Amino acid sequence: MTQNNVQHYIETHSEEFLDQLFELLSIPSISTDPDYADNVERCAQWVSEHLRQIGVDTVEVHSTEGHPIVYAEHLSAPDDAPTLLIYGHYDVQPPDPIDKWDSPPFEPEVRDGKIFARGATDDKGQLFAHLKAIEAWIATTGGLPVNIKFIIEGEEEVGSPNLAPWVETHQQRLQSDALIISDSSMFAPGIPSITYGLRGLAYLQMTVEGPDHDLHSGLFGGAVPNPINELARIIAQMHDEDGRVTIPGFYDAVRPMDESECRAFAELPFDDAAFRNETGAAQLKGEKGYTTLERIWARPTLDCNGIWGGYTKQGAKTVLPSKAHAKFSCRLVPDQDPDEIAELAQSWVRELADDSVKVSTSVFHGGYPVITDRDAPAVRAATRALSRVWNEECVFTRGGGSIPIVTTFSKTLEIPTVLMGFGLENDRLHSPNEKFNVENFYAGIRTSAYLWQELEQVYADEAAAGE
Ligand code: BES
Ligand code: MN
Ligand code: MN
Repeated sequence: MTQNNVQHYIETHSEEFLDQLFELLSIPSISTDPDYADNVERCAQWVSEHLRQIGVDTVEVHSTEGHPIVYAEHLSAPDDAPTLLIYGHYDVQPPDPIDKWDSPPFEPEVRDGKIFARGATDDKGQLFAHLKAIEAWIATTGGLPVNIKFIIEGEEEVGSPNLAPWVETHQQRLQSDALIISDSSMFAPGIPSITYGLRGLAYLQMTVEGPDHDLHSGLFGGAVPNPINELARIIAQMHDEDGRVTIPGFYDAVRPMDESECRAFAELPFDDAAFRNETGAAQLKGEKGYTTLERIWARPTLDCNGIWGGYTKQGAKTVLPSKAHAKFSCRLVPDQDPDEIAELAQSWVRELADDSVKVSTSVFHGGYPVITDRDAPAVRAATRALSRVWNEECVFTRGGGSIPIVTTFSKTLEIPTVLMGFGLENDRLHSPNEKFNVENFYAGIRTSAYLWQELEQVYADEAAAGE
């Protein structure tokens, strides 16, 4: 009966929920760009205000050296009820290239059943689904069947530099039974999914310097090292003919996929042609000997993310530039270590460069790869909640993206993680025209509403079985 009331509340408030999400999406909380710091702060305030409005007991905004952390607690459940920690992020990626959007990124709009805005799926829309489910519980029943703690940060998209130490300092207060995150994707429309793996990340930049000032390419070209040519040569040598990364030792720590996992991947209804079509590329390309799902979920990679130097404006300029730069990153899989990989990559770049140029490298944020425990009671509760809403069996997938803070949580709090995404693979996160299907937003809210009840039951069953 209770659940009926909760679900009824969600149905009758659906329009209001969407309007509120639009408010949240209109705040350009771009964490990486210092010009937007005020907006990031305003977003933290908006989220905390909203938590108070929906009736969450304790709501705090903790300032950091970077962007604020919103922390909240609602601990009204009966004794022995489990406590869940919900994590999400209110910061977003820059909208660039801005001219590729069909509607302005911070003026949300529904077209064809989809909410278009930066942050629609990553992560404001998914996070907000949990807030709305909790509102529904508090409004209809005065509380929740479980205790809830929230951490909503504003620095996920820049590697959570201030949240990691904060979690360590506050580990006592953060004690919970499981971590719940909705910041990933479903395997396919209508197929509810639990993500049990995420890739890690090592992110670097290199600068190649040749002459100490730009030169006339006619007077000097051919007799002086060209940093762009050298940089391109270095990058080209970082993969071999089979698409493998050439950094010595790169694959040493990679945990091989076991056969059952390969089989499970192969059994998923995945269509290479549809995947290729979504990207618009002429062909798929990757490490030889692996399927697409293996390549994006279980194999480490290296990609150049940006490259610049010389003359890039209109027309031609015959210049031999003094410097060239590139950003590149590695996606990592268990048990690779981001610091070790960054070290290996830097040595390799130095080795690939010849003596005619000077190469320097620097390392940005990184993150550990993640494999979660698929047998945890909280995972069971999540699969039940998901199946109730989608009327389909839940599938277990891995994800190619990274959420660096997950490892900090599991190491310091020693609790299982449930990654239950409501987004879709074609939501264009980080790209122009990011979207979140309205249907998925509402399904996410309904799933979250079921989840708290399922968790209460699963933990009660566990306790009974343990007696
Ligand atoms: N939500 C994504 C990660 C994600 C997306 C995981 C889809 C699984 C499926 C997250 O916001 C993200 O974009 N993370 C960054 C890492 C960060 C250090 C910039 C990433 O993966 O590039
Ligand atoms: Mn995200
Ligand atoms: Mn992201």
